[in-house]
Amino acid sequence: MAQATEQVLQRAHELRQLLQKASYAYYSLASPIMEDAVYDQLYRELQDIEIQHPEVVTPDSPTQRVGDQPATGFTSVTHNIPLYSLENAFDQGELEAWDQRWRRHAEIPVPEDVGYVCELKIDGSALALTYENGLLVRGVTRGDGIAGEDITQNVRTIRSIPLRLNMEHPPARLEVRGEAFLPLAVFERINAERAAADEALFANPRNAAAGTLRQLDSRIVAQRQLDFFAYTVHFQTNQAAIQTQSGALEYLQRSGFQVNPNRTQCDSLAAIAHYFDHWETARMDLPYLTDGVVVKLDDLGLQTHLGFTQKFPRWAIALKYPAEEAPTIVEAIRVNVGRTGAVTPLAEFRPVQLAGTTVSRATLHNRDRVAELDIRVGDTAIVRKAGEIIPEVVRVLPELRPAQTVAFEMPTHCPECGEALVQLEQEAVTRCINGSCPAIIKGSLVHWASRGAMDINGLGEKWVEQLVDNGLIRTVADLYQLTEEQLLDLERMGKKSAQNLLGAIAQSKQQPWSRILYGLGIRHVGSVNAQVLTQQFPSMDALLTASLDRIEAVYGIGPEIAASVHQWVRIEANQSVMQQLRGAGLQLEGTEDDTTTEVTPSNLPLAQKIFVLTGTLPTLSRSDAKAKIEAAGGKVTGSVSSKTDYVIVGENAGSKLTKAQSLGIACLSEDELLALLANPMADG
Ligand code: IVH
Repeated sequence: MAQATEQVLQRAHELRQLLQKASYAYYSLASPIMEDAVYDQLYRELQDIEIQHPEVVTPDSPTQRVGDQPATGFTSVTHNIPLYSLENAFDQGELEAWDQRWRRHAEIPVPEDVGYVCELKIDGSALALTYENGLLVRGVTRGDGIAGEDITQNVRTIRSIPLRLNMEHPPARLEVRGEAFLPLAVFERINAERAAADEALFANPRNAAAGTLRQLDSRIVAQRQLDFFAYTVHFQTNQAAIQTQSGALEYLQRSGFQVNPNRTQCDSLAAIAHYFDHWETARMDLPYLTDGVVVKLDDLGLQTHLGFTQKFPRWAIALKYPAEEAPTIVEAIRVNVGRTGAVTPLAEFRPVQLAGTTVSRATLHNRDRVAELDIRVGDTAIVRKAGEIIPEVVRVLPELRPAQTVAFEMPTHCPECGEALVQLEQEAVTRCINGSCPAIIKGSLVHWASRGAMDINGLGEKWVEQLVDNGLIRTVADLYQLTEEQLLDLERMGKKSAQNLLGAIAQSKQQPWSRILYGLGIRHVGSVNAQVLTQQFPSMDALLTASLDRIEAVYGIGPEIAASVHQWVRIEANQSVMQQLRGAGLQLEGTEDDTTTEVTPSNLPLAQKIFVLTGTLPTLSRSDAKAKIEAAGGKVTGSVSSKTDYVIVGENAGSKLTKAQSLGIACLSEDELLALLANPMADG
């Protein structure tokens, strides 16, 4: 086995310290400093290092103990039977390895099609409930698996836990285990109430459930509406003669417990994989959180035969869904200059697996967000990628900050062209306003060639980069002057590709005026606004000569969009580009579809709807959101009143949100706003 390098030793040491801090915060302070998925991943990283280099294992490594310390405040109770946790598997290979492992360990013949039970892995807090002669006498948390806390008073408030078992001849003693959890709707309500009362928010339903169970005042627990799914039963003497896990679940259900209905019996790993795949998406519609699937051998006799390792049952495994959040180390913070000149900071980090893909960078949006995160090179940052959404940094773990880091400062000069950057008072965005900045030129060209604009097949970032760097083009108009010889000078450009590219460029001359206007990349002029404008100004000349008032009078074009367009067409360099485009044979007039209905107040999707924006939206700036709403016919006002139709709520929303809630006005997130704009009728 390879000798551990200095770097590996250091990493193992770092991980041990972090994991210890995290469990202390979780169990002793009841104030977690990281998400469970993040903990799991760091834990596995340490475990992997220790497997590779057993000499680095220290007796105090978190991998060397069964669980973590119970906190004080409630009476500690030793469990009759330890509450083991489950081994995790993250892919089919790990599931197969588990299956082979237990079969080998069994040392008795087991049929290939042995019965398995698949259950959802509820993301809550484990509880052990003791019933004596049918009566609930004790409820204990998992704690470190050996001893937990007696929270019987709180457990009694959970309505899905029977206080008396539903059976005529209950056993003298019975222990039921299962998962207490907070339904998502309840979690959201609690956090809304906490926000209104200026209290710290719960990070997720699991923490909220754990925090609630450990509340000293059980009246508060009762208000929180915890729920419970039972999943195992332990008898002193198995008088019910239960032979299987599926039988145990039915027994629990008959006895008055809530048992999760989404379970199934399988007889092959393929069937398990099918169940797992199905619930990967179906779980999104459940009213509570699940983080995987638990696979158990159905035969309780076989379970007993196999027993436990130091930490886990051999007869069960948790198949986890890929984490959507993970920790990683920030290696650099850079800025990117976009086609509008917006200077966006972004973090580059050690590549990390997130929701099934490898991610190594995430936008930090703007200087305010960077300041809020206080993210620095060397920091351990938690990155998130939910579904299709682009990755983002959720927060950094200040406890893990190495010594001598420096706060990130936005550059004062453009990293691409060296000109001074501009920061407007009312804008979070920092901008390069040098029209000759190569980054702006390249970005504008890529936008011009993009599918929704001029759709120039094959003209991507790679060629644009070379064309600009070799001084062959500076504006979109220059594209139409390119020759085959010039293209052949580019690195890795063959004759065939050059001809194809020239063909695609020539083809784009046929694109209608509305696409040209969109392709020019004027601020706030997206494809919808471009269409609205070209209907009212059917030629470039009409737009060039239009007064600001005339542009503003176009229904759907708000003052901000109008000002942006008016300013753009006044700039001489832009006028010259348009002349050159006309000279090259592009069609700067005529609507592509003269039958298009004119946009009037009443036929715009959000006509007469009144919106108020509050807080910072995740991707849209205030002015972008406003422009989008206005383009759809809506109006944006500054304060919430009974006339307001929608309040769009971002991060750190203030009193406007509270007021909207008290007036019962619909509050939408940015995503919901975008969905409404895309499909306004869906909202009625
Ligand atoms: S069985 C000895 N079944 O997952 C095995 N656990 O990561 C006992 N969990 O501590 C656990 N849903 O809190 C089992 N259907 C389910 C579960 C489940 C959630 C939790 C449980 C356990 C943790 C292990």
